Amino acid sequence: MSRLDQALVGLALAGIAAAGLRPSVCDTLNAALPGLVTFPNTPLYLQESTYWSNRQAELQPSCFVTPRTAQDVSKAVKIITSRNTPFTVKGGGHTGYTGGSNIQDGVTIDLLYMKEVKVSKDRKTVTVGPGNRWVDIYEQLDPLGLSVVGGRADTVGVSGLTLGGGISYFSGSYGWACDNVKLYEVVTASGDILTATPTTNKDLYWALRGGGGSNFGIVTRFDIRSFDQGELWASSLILPGAFNTSFIPLIQDFAVNGVKRDPLAHQYFVMAYSADFGGYLILSDQFHPSAKTIPEPFKPLHQFAPVFSNNTRLANVTQLSRDIHVPGGHRQNFAVTSVAATSAQLFIDYTQMWKELVDRMLVKAAGSHLLPLLVIQPIPTHIIELMQVNGGNALGLKPSDGPLMLVQLSFEWSDPALDATLETEANNMINKFNQVAKQRGLYKGFIYMNYASRLQDVYASYGLPNALKLKLIALKYDPFGRFKSLWRGYFKL
Ligand SMILES: Cc1cc2nc3c(=O)[nH]c(=O)nc-3n(C[C@H](O)[C@H](O)[C@H](O)COP(=O)(O)OP(=O)(O)OC[C@H]3O[C@@H](n4cnc5c(N)ncnc54)[C@H](O)[C@@H]3O)c2cc1C
Ligand SMILES: *[C@@H]1O[C@H](CO)[C@@H](O)[C@H](O)[C@H]1NC(C)=O
Ligand SMILES: *[C@@H]1O[C@H](CO)[C@@H](O)[C@H](O)[C@H]1NC(C)=O
Ligand SMILES: *[C@@H]1O[C@H](CO)[C@@H](O)[C@H](O)[C@H]1NC(C)=O
Repeated sequence: MSRLDQALVGLALAGIAAAGLRPSVCDTLNAALPGLVTFPNTPLYLQESTYWSNRQAELQPSCFVTPRTAQDVSKAVKIITSRNTPFTVKGGGHTGYTGGSNIQDGVTIDLLYMKEVKVSKDRKTVTVGPGNRWVDIYEQLDPLGLSVVGGRADTVGVSGLTLGGGISYFSGSYGWACDNVKLYEVVTASGDILTATPTTNKDLYWALRGGGGSNFGIVTRFDIRSFDQGELWASSLILPGAFNTSFIPLIQDFAVNGVKRDPLAHQYFVMAYSADFGGYLILSDQFHPSAKTIPEPFKPLHQFAPVFSNNTRLANVTQLSRDIHVPGGHRQNFAVTSVAATSAQLFIDYTQMWKELVDRMLVKAAGSHLLPLLVIQPIPTHIIELMQVNGGNALGLKPSDGPLMLVQLSFEWSDPALDATLETEANNMINKFNQVAKQRGLYKGFIYMNYASRLQDVYASYGLPNALKLKLIALKYDPFGRFKSLWRGYFKL
């Protein structure tokens, strides 16, 4: 070998060695954000791997990055995108399906330490960090006699719920959570830190109101409208499933007529199968922000006796959110559709179709844990009207579409071998629900992102003009398609 050849071989070997030694993206992140990167097989990594659904918890990212500030988020985004590394973002971690807010081998940006809650001097705005769970906020606002339009269950994340829409106890007064955000601070794909308000970057502001985060940016701060609020009136009734044909017409009438008589009355209806409770049962959860006794639209629902249980009380928002707590530690899947709220028979038929599905799935589960739910929630017309403030949101709902009913299927189970079956069967059931609704002229088609299965086309359901507008806004703020290709999970435009 000539000296030149030797030198070239040496250089090539050095090159290979250098490539081998090239720091991993997690090492680079760790150097730029010392102490804010967590590696596998450490106690913190295990702690950050806590997700509501085991389908998410079992994924193992190469590292978690846990920023403290928007600047940290910006640094992380710059490094991750320059290294072409697949990543995802975790707010409260309540997405049910695999990869919704965790990732195998990529980087998970976990916002859990960004937990600012600050009330403005005039008490009209709360500045909220994206790592908060709703109960963190309620615990600080209740003693001040304030509240916000937020999630109903304690540990659900502020971020995902608000970015996808956000149904609240207070929606009857103020619309959904996304309709009450005054300002978003956002880190875009270039690592820039922008604010989006009704007047600044107003296209981005519109997109983030129900369009989700994953196509646009990582929200590092929400400024949310706050209002005076004391205890709410609430009632949770549990009834035998056999009451369905008499109870459902009352729920349906509530969505159309009851809320006209009292627009602040709020309710959801759940049909469940629970072996512990001896089979099928009905849960009706009712709320009113100012009533002291049973609000008039709920009175017909209270003529059922005996009920299995009746928890009627006045309670603060912290307590209510804890009452609604749904523990993690299982496998989870949601799927959803929306139909006109005008026909009780439709929901009676859905209940029957769902029961046939559940009976089949119980056989498949062969005694392993399976908790199936059919959740029906009104979207009254006046709430769609409240969504039109500040230029409207991205959901594409018009008051003329209302009143609507969201129909959601949820499965909670334990055996991973059931994952594919339950996900597919839920989707097939939603398709059948849609077919029946279409035959009767009751189909509406809006798919609520935060209750959707990953198999559903959420953005198409916002209507073609909105889907197109969202695509253009994503392209404007992510012109090189970095988030489009690298940010995994949730719904992509
Ligand atoms: C028990 C339970 C109760 C619920 N109750 C309600 C309810 O009352 N009303 C309602 O409307 N919905 C409710 N939901 C649905 C809920 O809105 C969604 O599950 C929502 O996605 C949860 O947000 P998260 O931050 O916890 O989830 P995550 O899984 O952390 O995030 C969801 C998505 O948002 C992205 N994301 C997270 N943080 C950010 C950020 N800062 N910037 C940009 N993108 C981000 C993630 O990457 C992911 O794609 C409930 C869900 C559960 C499981
Ligand atoms: C909220 O209600 C709970 C339960 O009744 C109570 O312990 C707590 O002190 C209340 N919080 C405030 C601020 O009133
Ligand atoms: C609903 O009611 C009908 C009529 O009483 C009954 O046959 C059916 O089993 C009930 N469904 C459930 C899920 O309990
Ligand atoms: C539930 O309890 C409330 C308050 O005690 C009562 O007014 C209502 O009639 C009860 N409802 C049912 C269905 O028993």
